[in-house]
Amino acid sequence: MSDMLKIGVLASGRGTNLQSIIDSIESGKLAAEIKVIVSDRENAGALIRADKYQITNHYLDLGKYLSRLEFEEELIDLLEKYNVELVVMAGFMRVLTPHFINHYRQRIMNIHPSLLPAFPGLNAQKQALEYGVKVTGCTVHFADEGMDTGPIILQAAVPVKENDTVESLSRRILKEEHKKYPEAIKLYSQGRIVISDGIVKIKNCVG
Ligand code: GRF
Repeated sequence: MSDMLKIGVLASGRGTNLQSIIDSIESGKLAAEIKVIVSDRENAGALIRADKYQITNHYLDLGKYLSRLEFEEELIDLLEKYNVELVVMAGFMRVLTPHFINHYRQRIMNIHPSLLPAFPGLNAQKQALEYGVKVTGCTVHFADEGMDTGPIILQAAVPVKENDTVESLSRRILKEEHKKYPEAIKLYSQGRIVISDGIVKIKNCVG
């Protein structure tokens, strides 16, 4: 059991992606352990889910720190304390500084509700609707210093319908997010993700 991947989840919101990871672990599909869940919002749904499953969780109040760097130092200390190997951003609404990125280089995953590099940043679904694309989707990628940049691990395409609203499109994308995030973490836990020149390749299973 001790060779299970140790995950730390960062979440600011309702935490449905967190839930999909918890569900995959509980059903035995994903051999990993969520060691700690950290939120920058006190009332995040993600923290309620953490309590429900008795997963260690912390609220870090950014307002308490003098700088973002100080906040991240505390975050790093916390993740280190629980020997976190992979940091999973699941609706975490803060951009991490190069200091944090360097510390966990290629060990931080993020999920974004578009087919990156299209529509990075906030309101990706609204951006897709306003642009008029006919296909959008979701992307799981390693986080780097940029906004929703970094090596792409998995993507899923989702059709945009003519009568879609931000809500209906978001729901359709979210369903795919809930499949792709656990899948990407599983690939990582199996040591099957290789990054070369910024490009991810997925190794086949041995045996
Ligand atoms: C998701 O759409 C994710 O792609 C984006 O933030 C949202 C988080 O949703 N980064 P939830 O908190 O996991 O339900």
